[in-house]
Formats: sequence, C-alpha cells, structure tokens
Amino acid sequence: MSDATATILLLGATGQVGHELARTLAPLGTVQAPGRAEVDLGAPDTLRRAVRQAAPDLIVNAAAYTDVDGAESEPERAAALNTEAPHVLAEAARDAEAWLVHYSTDYVFDGEKRTPYTEDDAPNPINVYGRTKWEGEQALRAVGGRVLVLRTSWVYSDRRSNFVRTMLGLADEHDTLTVVDDQMGVPTWAGWLAEATATISTRLLTASDPSSLRGLYHLAGTGQTSWYGFAKAIFAQFDRADVTVEPVSSDEYDTAAPRPAYTALDSSRARAAFDLALPSWTAQLARFREHVAQSAADAGTSG
Ligand SMILES: NC(=O)c1ccc[n+]([C@@H]2O[C@H](COP(=O)([O-])OP(=O)(O)OC[C@H]3O[C@@H](n4cnc5c(N)ncnc54)[C@H](OP(=O)(O)O)[C@@H]3O)[C@@H](O)[C@H]2O)c1
Repeated sequence: MSDATATILLLGATGQVGHELARTLAPLGTVQAPGRAEVDLGAPDTLRRAVRQAAPDLIVNAAAYTDVDGAESEPERAAALNTEAPHVLAEAARDAEAWLVHYSTDYVFDGEKRTPYTEDDAPNPINVYGRTKWEGEQALRAVGGRVLVLRTSWVYSDRRSNFVRTMLGLADEHDTLTVVDDQMGVPTWAGWLAEATATISTRLLTASDPSSLRGLYHLAGTGQTSWYGFAKAIFAQFDRADVTVEPVSSDEYDTAAPRPAYTALDSSRARAAFDLALPSWTAQLARFREHVAQSAADAGTSG
C-alpha cells in the first residue's frame, strides 16, 4: 500500500482534532469525512454501513461524547458514543481489514500520581466521561486486531469550546481572572496532534510489519503545567499582559464532574515507536499563536 493511495474514513471532522486531521491526512490518500447526519455514533448501523461502503484502509475516529460535565447527567448517552460506538467500529474495521486509530483521554486516570503516567499505569477514572472512554478502550482491546488507541490531554484549537478560547474570551470582559492551580496536565494543540497522527498513520500504511505497532500510546507534548500556569502562558503568548491571573483551589469551583488532580502523560512510547518529535506544551502554544495569526492574515487577504 502506497501512502498516497490509501482510502481513509475520518469521523468527527467538525471537531477540534478532526478538523485538523482533514488537513494532515489528505496527503496520505482520499479522505472521506461524513458528518453526524450521515454517520451517527449513536446509531451503530450507520457506522457499519459507512465502513462497508468506504472499504477503507484506515479509519480515524475523532468523534466522541466530549462534554465532561454533561456526561454526569447523561451517562447512557456518553457510554453509547464513547464505549459502544468504538466497539462497533472495531468490529467493522476488523471485517474490512482496516486499521482503526481512536483517541482516548488522560481522564482515564484518577490523578493520584505525581510523575507522568505511562501506558503501564492502571486507569481508575473518577468521572463518567473518563469511565466511558476507559470502557471504550477495553472494548477495542477485546475486539483486537489492527487498533491503535492514542490517549491525549487538554486539547485546544481555534474552534469549538476549549480552555484557550474561554480564557481569551473572559479576558475581554474582566481585568482579573481566577484559575485553578491544583490540577496538573499537558496542554495539547489539536494541530500538532493531527500532524503526529498523520505521521503514525503513514507508518501503519507503509511499514513492512505494521502489526507490531498496534496498541496503546500516550500522545501529548513534553512538560506539564496547571490550568493557572496554562492561563498565564496563554496571556503572555497572546500579548495580554493587562490581564491579572490569580491561582485558586479546585474546591472553590463547583463542577458537575470531579477532575483528577494530576494527569500529565509520558509519551515516550509513541516517540520511540514512530520517531516522533515531541514538542513541549509551550512550543505547541507558540505554534498555535502563529497559526491563529496566519489564519487571520489569510482571512484578511481573501476577504
Ligand atoms: N478536548 C479535550 O480536551 C480532549 C482531551 C483528551 C482526549 N480527547 C479526545 O480526543 C478526541 C477528539 O476530541 P475533540 O476535542 O476534537 O472533540 P470535539 O471538538 O468535542 O469534537 C467532537 C466531534 O465528535 C462529533 N460527534 C459528537 N457526537 C456525535 C455523534 N453522535 N455522531 C457522530 N459524531 C459525533 C462532533 O460532531 P458535531 O460537530 O456534529 O457535534 C465532533 O465532530 C475525542 O475522542 C476526545 O475524547 C479530547
């Protein structure tokens, strides 16, 4: 299989990661990216039909139920999308002899560690979203075959709802913001994650023995920070020195879903297996800033 001739079925192309994947996977072959109206994670038959019709070499599933707080009051919906749908996809991928690349989350961990989590650490989710994603991973493992699970963390991009956009929006309305400083993790730019996924996918489609590559990988940058540290870095990067950020404890924020206190991921296994460069989270944020500036310049030129 030459990488330029692959047929790729991409789910979730309207999301943060999926939108970037539509760009980074394009050089590998033909990317089919049906929307939710055609392929609904909550309707297994539409998943099976999409895989049968596309006859893909590779399925990349960036679609999921991602509302961490919402999952607490909709556990069945979250399970249908994050556990049952990946199970159906894995079976369909197996029948089609396709690779399946699927994303999972740092929230599978309980946050009790104080050094970065590796793939060998035992998950123990403390909220419904994390539990449904962990059960999705287990469902994929049960089906087996050519499946890759990429666990990532604290994703942001220039679309949909994420911490960077929330902070920049709040900064337009307030001089001082309070942000929790007792939850640590690794912020990840969706654009980098999609580039890394394309590198990985190329290897899956071209390696002489790709089966040895299947399994579970952590995929985030290097380093770690708190939401407070992340907020300060965002305002420094986006020239908003006028905004004051004050650290507060999570106890002062009432959220429907509890958050793990520490979920930094160690991505060395992915680095070694796929010869990936792992930029620091700060380097990713700087690239994101350039990306935003470039998009604004392009919009100005074309508008
Ligand atoms: N965001 C994070 O901080 C984070 C952290 C760790 C792991 N992850 C994982 O990374 C992956 C990508 O996350 P993301 O942040 O890019 O997600 P996102 O921006 O919330 O996008 C979710 C995508 O899923 C689609 N979707 C939702 N329900 C669907 C349904 N019933 N049928 C079909 N499509 C449906 C959405 O389509 P619509 O446009 O139609 O809604 C959208 O394209 C997910 O597996 C997520 O669990 C995310």
